[in-house]
Amino acid sequence: MKTTISHIKADIGSLPGHTTVYAPVEDEVRKYVKNNSAGLVTDFYVTHIGDDIQITMAHEKGIDNPEIHGLAWEAFKAGTALAKKVGLYGAGQDLLKDAFSGNIKGMGPGVAEMEITPRKSEPFIIYMMDKTEPGAFNFPIFKMFADPFNTPGLVIDPNMHEGFRFEIWDVVDGKKIELSSPDQMYDILAMIGSKSRYVVKRVYTKETHEKLPDENVAVVTTDKLSLIAGEYVGKDDPAAIVRIQSGLPASGESLEAFSHPFLVSGWMRGSFNGPLMPVGINGSKMTRFDGPPRVAALGFVLKDGKLAGPVDLFDDVAFDGARKTALEMTDHLRRMGPFEPHRLPESDMEYTTLPKVLNSLADKFSPIENHEKKHKLKESVRDMD
Ligand code: F6R
Ligand code: MG
Ligand code: MG
Repeated sequence: MKTTISHIKADIGSLPGHTTVYAPVEDEVRKYVKNNSAGLVTDFYVTHIGDDIQITMAHEKGIDNPEIHGLAWEAFKAGTALAKKVGLYGAGQDLLKDAFSGNIKGMGPGVAEMEITPRKSEPFIIYMMDKTEPGAFNFPIFKMFADPFNTPGLVIDPNMHEGFRFEIWDVVDGKKIELSSPDQMYDILAMIGSKSRYVVKRVYTKETHEKLPDENVAVVTTDKLSLIAGEYVGKDDPAAIVRIQSGLPASGESLEAFSHPFLVSGWMRGSFNGPLMPVGINGSKMTRFDGPPRVAALGFVLKDGKLAGPVDLFDDVAFDGARKTALEMTDHLRRMGPFEPHRLPESDMEYTTLPKVLNSLADKFSPIENHEKKHKLKESVRDMD
């Protein structure tokens, strides 16, 4: 029997700024799902990271199901009503459309779903990030499923030795490609290093996988809020579902990918590079410079449609070192103020409020004398090469 895990998340208001969710609003969302999910989902869990409310659901209706998406949409609407009543900041921020049209994709909330053939024991991890973008998952997902220095199972376990297939989306041009690791590893890296454009959407096992052939084993939300709304409406904070163990990365191999904080885009005003800090849910208030960007990891097992757990996996001393490093990186980067590469490059600022500031200066510019000559000089230098 196939089972679907759907993870749907949205920022529907926070306090005092984009800091953290308001517990009664999270409760309202939870209550709505509880009261309206009979016969629809077999189990669910509601949590948050920073200012994003997160709903994990297990069901048998497959991906892109209008009833499941509708349930999440209505739950976020119920939470939004309370958020508006108490005056939360950015109440209803991610509910970009007024009416639900059957699929929550493109309407604001982030969606990660996979239909699976559950194993005897089906362990998986929900990763949730705040103050960053879907491409922030490129690096850790690559490490989990393709880097033998992170995941020795790729070398040691015959089931993993063949590697995995990566589905990569070009979120700017709306195209996708499938590439196989390790044989096409350099092609994969050629793309996913450009993380604001190419994002790992899904990872699959290969046909030759003895325990779990041709299965979806990881999925990431790839909703670019800025592109949906046409202007900056908050960073599209991502989430991912990663299946683990028994021919897949072990729980610890999956978590290991976050042990050395790496830089992600987002943070303050969605405009800065910052370290991704692994935290327990209790450490997920976005404070310093509206961050730093954070990731939480909740471990579940699924059996007959029921979820056991979660275990708050980064709520552990083993990640104290990573947190310390992330805070040192924070201190270091913050000294750069509004300068690149702490601030994002101009191309990535297109959907922020910066172009409005630059536009207001446009008619105050005057030409630089001899500028054309300089271009000509450049060309003649090139001619001499
Ligand atoms: C980043 C984020 C925050 C806000 C910042 C300014 O994803 O949500 O850093 O961009 O707090 O918010 P506004 O413009 O709403 O005052
Ligand atoms: Mg927010
Ligand atoms: Mg957020």
